[in-house]
Amino acid sequence: EPAYDTLLVETRGAVGLITLNRPKALNALNAQVIGELARAFEAMEADEAVGAVVVTGSEKAFAAGADIKEMAAKTYAEAFLEDFTPVWRRLVACRKPSIAAVSGYALGGGCELAMMCDMIFAADSAKFGQPEITLGIIPGFGGTQRLAKAVGKAKAMDLILTGRMMDAAEAERCGLVARVVPAERLLDEALEAAAKIAGFSRLATLAAKEAVDVASEASLAEGVRFERRLFQGLFATEDQKEGMAAFVEKRKPAFRNR
Ligand code: CAA
Repeated sequence: EPAYDTLLVETRGAVGLITLNRPKALNALNAQVIGELARAFEAMEADEAVGAVVVTGSEKAFAAGADIKEMAAKTYAEAFLEDFTPVWRRLVACRKPSIAAVSGYALGGGCELAMMCDMIFAADSAKFGQPEITLGIIPGFGGTQRLAKAVGKAKAMDLILTGRMMDAAEAERCGLVARVVPAERLLDEALEAAAKIAGFSRLATLAAKEAVDVASEASLAEGVRFERRLFQGLFATEDQKEGMAAFVEKRKPAFRNR
């Protein structure tokens, strides 16, 4: 059982819960945190009992960005050789649905981490931003790409070029955030949604996630074709027979991930 210094990692029923736990630095993402996040996501992927994952931080900060103190003295050569892209790829490779439950600051790398999850639930206290420009750099964990895809060019340019923060209401209006809830409800809301997802056929939830993700890469025609193949393939599963039989028989389905 791997130990984590900067995260709390647990399972609640069929939900994996990963809590960033570096309170003295507002959960700033240093190399250790990023490595542990990759490891925790891999553990969730490997745990057959887990059907969905929630990532959260503290009430004050989801994560206030990459660790500025760790980066401050880096040379170009060090930045180039210590590329975090392969580490983040291990996290993004998780096929199980994930929810970022964001309270407080999600800035820079923190906003980028939230965007690597499949959806973001925000407390009404949440603040999102890409303040890298104020440090003489630009986002480096995918922010220019994922933010532009999530909210469109106008809002992405505004946030990335001015470095300003946006509140939860604005983040919901522009499509970055799936739900805004009162801060005290945030974790329960995310855990309940994750438990609901985990209760469906895993064949269907993984296929649904994979299909939606294709929308950000493929043309509409290619994406629709990809979706149709996955849709048709699900008719080969026992869970499709069970789900539809349960509907007809007016009972709850018992999915077995087969
Ligand atoms: N890196 C390292 N340490 C950080 C940090 C970060 N990103 N954010 C906060 N901290 C530390 C502070 O240095 C402080 O530590 P000390 O007590 O040792 O001084 C502690 O966390 C508490 O922070 P503050 O005292 O600043 O708390 P505050 O409530 O006054 O302000 C804040 C909160 C507005 C979020 C402010 O901390 C802040 O602006 N943080 C930096 C945000 C930022 O610029 N993020 C982008 C980082 S670059 C990046 O992410 C690059 C990338 O895309 C890969």
